[in-house]
Amino acid sequence: MRKPLEKPEIFLQRREKLKNLIPGGSVLVVFASPESYRNGSVMHNYRADSNMYYLTGFEEPESIFVFRPGLKPESILFTRKKDASREIWDGFRFGPEAAKAEYKVDQTFPVEEFESKMIDLLKGSERIYYRQYKNPAADLQIKKVLQEFKFSQGRSGLGILPIYDADELIGELRLFKTDNDIKNHRHACEISAEAHIELMKYVRPGMSERELHGYFIYQVMKKGAAREGYGGIFASGPDACILHYVFNDKTVKAGDLFLVDAAGEFQYFTSDITRTYPVNGRYTKPQSEVYSAVLRTQKSIVEMIRPGLPFAELQKASIELLTHEMLELGLLTGRKEDLIETKEFRKYYPHGVSHFLGMDVHDSGIYQSRKDEPRNIEAGMVFTVEPGLYIPAHDSSDYAGIGVRIEDDILVTKTGSDILTVKCPKEIPEVEALIGR
Ligand code: GLY
Ligand code: MN
Ligand code: MN
Repeated sequence: MRKPLEKPEIFLQRREKLKNLIPGGSVLVVFASPESYRNGSVMHNYRADSNMYYLTGFEEPESIFVFRPGLKPESILFTRKKDASREIWDGFRFGPEAAKAEYKVDQTFPVEEFESKMIDLLKGSERIYYRQYKNPAADLQIKKVLQEFKFSQGRSGLGILPIYDADELIGELRLFKTDNDIKNHRHACEISAEAHIELMKYVRPGMSERELHGYFIYQVMKKGAAREGYGGIFASGPDACILHYVFNDKTVKAGDLFLVDAAGEFQYFTSDITRTYPVNGRYTKPQSEVYSAVLRTQKSIVEMIRPGLPFAELQKASIELLTHEMLELGLLTGRKEDLIETKEFRKYYPHGVSHFLGMDVHDSGIYQSRKDEPRNIEAGMVFTVEPGLYIPAHDSSDYAGIGVRIEDDILVTKTGSDILTVKCPKEIPEVEALIGR
């Protein structure tokens, strides 16, 4: 029998915390990821939905978790039934009985009973928390359940229960990492940093981006990652300027810069690291000028991080600093204030400097209120710092075709910050000393 990946207490503690956030009279429903890994009879690896894993630790497809704070039963898991013939194809499945014992939920049922059981489980509730539009089949089931529930109440005059977004609610919890989360997150960051170092040592002109991608995955999985945390970007030459370059299929050439945005996932926490370095081990003068500009900016932003600072200040500072650097490099001319006001800086710096990081690479959590009130940085948050400069191949400057991003993952502490990816070198002499060694 398989065992849960982590101790049930971790998930019980998270559900206890959720109780303090969720208004009374609410029922939360979380579905497993749709089985999009089945494409005809071809399978891709399955990964549990982050919210499902976060609250239950249960990793099987087709499961549904229902949470009713303060009621009995409070935690209910619907799972696939045991099925010897299916298990020959898909491997072990817990089934409701073993799932109840191993995952410490109050009640389990076969997933086929979801719709009928929900009529009882919704009694007395005033709203449900559920994330719509992730899984069309689940959306239909929820609609049906809500309609059946209304019918079950007879002519009450009461409307269909309102649906609130579960991601917003759980996102607030996921934003603040516990000691156990940090332990896992730090490990994901450390093995990802080590895999970047191994790749720097391995790269040689003439290799393909695809081989280098494969080598990174090999290194990070050898160190215990379950999978890549997101589709890695292995972009050489001018493709480093393509923010979400996906082909990873060219040959890397001497003289090219190589932008690697890649990381592994450990116990469902991912890292997110970018390093940019010359394939043949020496930055050219224009490459080192752009690289140094981005590195100065990146380090200045990391130094700003402390609890109490509005999160949006990081973006503002990155624009100020990089616009200054663009003027110094001669990429832009004019007054800095005007270039910021007119957003001309976006020609070379078109993206955000940071995003929350956790179980998803662009993790859940609210960046600003609906009234646009800024959110302050707080201890326990983890986010990236990833400024970049991208000078398209058709640019008229000496920097044409150079794309540089430097990205680290930061844990906010009570007094400042802790760079979880600190093991990954980014100073020019350190990086040059590693390449091709
Ligand atoms: N790797 C995705 C990102 O940096 O946002
Ligand atoms: Mn990122
Ligand atoms: Mn990244």
